[in-house]
Amino acid sequence: MPRKVNRGVDIDEDYDSYEDYDYEDDYDYSVESPAKAEEPHQKTKKLWSCSICTYDNDESMSACDICGVVRNPVAGDFKNSNKKTAAFKFDAPSPDDTVSIGLQSSKLLTKGNVKPSTVAEDCNGAESAHSTTQRSEKSSKSNGKRGKLDANNSTETAVNGKLDSKYSDRPPAETFHGSDGGLGGHNSSKKGVLSGQRSDEASGSSTPLKIKEKHKNADDDFIGQKRTAPTSNFGKISLSDQPGNSNALDSRKAKSIAEYHPDKWMLPDKANDTLTQLNLAIVGHVDSGKSTLSGRLLHLLGRITKKEMHKYEKEAKIQGKSSFAYAWALDESPEERERGITMNVAVAYFDSKMYHVVILDSPGHKDFVPNMISGATQADAAILVIDASNGAFEAGFDGSKGQTREHVLLIRSFGVEQLIVAVNKMDAVGYSKDRFDLIVTQLGAFFRSCGFKESCIFWIPLSAIENQNLVAAPSDARLLSWYRGPYLLDAIDSLQPPARDFAKPLLMPICDVTKSSSQGQVSVCGKLVAGALRSGLKVVVMPSGEVGTIKSLERDSQSSTVARAGDNVTLNLQGLDLSNNVVPGGVVCHPDYPVAVAKHFELKVRALEELALPILNGSQVEFHIHHAQEAGKVAKIVSILDPKSGKETKRSPRCLLSKQSAVLEVVLNKPVCVEVYSNCRALGRASLRAMGRTIAIGIVTRIIQ
Ligand code: GTP
Ligand code: MG
Repeated sequence: MPRKVNRGVDIDEDYDSYEDYDYEDDYDYSVESPAKAEEPHQKTKKLWSCSICTYDNDESMSACDICGVVRNPVAGDFKNSNKKTAAFKFDAPSPDDTVSIGLQSSKLLTKGNVKPSTVAEDCNGAESAHSTTQRSEKSSKSNGKRGKLDANNSTETAVNGKLDSKYSDRPPAETFHGSDGGLGGHNSSKKGVLSGQRSDEASGSSTPLKIKEKHKNADDDFIGQKRTAPTSNFGKISLSDQPGNSNALDSRKAKSIAEYHPDKWMLPDKANDTLTQLNLAIVGHVDSGKSTLSGRLLHLLGRITKKEMHKYEKEAKIQGKSSFAYAWALDESPEERERGITMNVAVAYFDSKMYHVVILDSPGHKDFVPNMISGATQADAAILVIDASNGAFEAGFDGSKGQTREHVLLIRSFGVEQLIVAVNKMDAVGYSKDRFDLIVTQLGAFFRSCGFKESCIFWIPLSAIENQNLVAAPSDARLLSWYRGPYLLDAIDSLQPPARDFAKPLLMPICDVTKSSSQGQVSVCGKLVAGALRSGLKVVVMPSGEVGTIKSLERDSQSSTVARAGDNVTLNLQGLDLSNNVVPGGVVCHPDYPVAVAKHFELKVRALEELALPILNGSQVEFHIHHAQEAGKVAKIVSILDPKSGKETKRSPRCLLSKQSAVLEVVLNKPVCVEVYSNCRALGRASLRAMGRTIAIGIVTRIIQ
């Protein structure tokens, strides 16, 4: 049974922990200081105002000091400007370009022969549905063993279960008009059902389930609702986290969470104690060995049979990719295998002494960060895989090209506090202690700057290929000569059990949806972030507000009667409109406590280190929150915050620079299911991306509309 452990981390601590980082060194006070414009010498100087960010530049500047946009030649002395203004470079995007490119950034991600499946497809629902179904079909053909749900994009209409008179005394989820669902036509299918089982169950065979590319969208007509909760513990953060203009929503809310009393069956039964589930994201730069490590672990722990392993080895050899044999246990699609990269998150299971571990093997390639986000939002803890080979660690840690920093910042922003750093491929550096120490030193400083506590980080030197230090102490004398710490499985068992919200109303962000027109049911999968559910229960699916009934459910691909917070489940729902109202990025809720749906909200963010361009009012962004992603723009930069005190240092700044903290208002093209962070952390953590990079991470502090 999961123990509730108060690890004492709240938002105060989260932000306090950023204190180690010396923001001030990088802080350009000349930009921020409002007094600057008042200085006498400034008054006599001629200034020109940037047409993009409105910064007042000195006459001598040919391009904006802040955002780099070239000065409009007609604005000044033509002769002069001809001399001084640099020729416009078509290969260097202006902020205007960025704004428009931002709109399509996901389409520009293609690099080499890698197809940016998630985002590009997300921009085109029809294509997405098509390609997803195709992949599903391929996948099912390639492995007959796998359970398969009908991937048809059904138009058959089931009973429309919108909130009816049964709930007429309850919040108006019936006010949601799911006309087209907005999420139009995107219908991902379940690629495979895990055959991984708990240790007390038969068969050791394990085939990973891929978390499909998810989809965004929601219906413009949806009217937001607020899910209420006890007041926040925001502490030092000066901003109110209460939805400012959402009184109307408040008046329509159903019940306050304080009124919620869970039934007895919803709480874990101590007598029926089972292993605590631990969702473990495997993240890190491309080719660091995440899938190989995952496959090797599964094999060593008996989740992949000898016969299966033999098959992978044989097939990999035929394709000239022998070194990927273990990775093939996770990278199951022909596309992934051919390219030698993971594209979708693979899910697999094993049991350790302490935990029922759910592995979420993420893609490391930068084009698939949105998929990585989808898996990482479910994580309780993470294994960061580092390639120790010479030059490889450096490439992954490189701020502009590597994915190590971005992955670490993302998992931290999703609330992951415990990290195992698997320093892999130690065989390639002769198990050198010096190399390991160098990696620990460089990464350690970075982790501190991200807010990780040293006591929550485990450093494990290992080799997945040579099976050193995975499930037993190393046997290689070179590693044994200096390393006496825990092996990987030991480190996993040393992690603190995750706290779970069993006693709160049901919330399950939807990761994937499969519709079966023949059975008139919709299958949705995801991780329960709060509450519990069982067959026969009525649930409301947001944002459409439709009510359905849980016909059956699977927990870790095994049929089950009950699931509770922390469990990964697949629900087979009946009574829902099958057309398009149930979508990845939606949330399954208790009918009395539907999640809010909004497109305009306030965020408290921290801009990341490697901003190619400052964030401006109007900057186009891709907004990611739990499994939802939606295009939108920064409507307003409300204020810059002091990173240490959280206090406002400047109101209405022109732009947001690298490493600055700020309050922003974001307006999305379509609404998403969202909660204020203090009400529900899992639904209140967000990240902003542009041009294929994460540019800021933060939390939702206010729902505006
Ligand atoms: P993506 O999912 O695409 O980001 O890659 P990945 O991190 O999952 O890497 P993958 O497991 O596909 O391995 C990439 C390459 O690294 C393969 O050729 C592996 O054989 C190799 N590799 C993995 N682990 C080790 C190791 O411990 N030592 C050595 N020498 N090579 C390894
Ligand atoms: Mg991989």
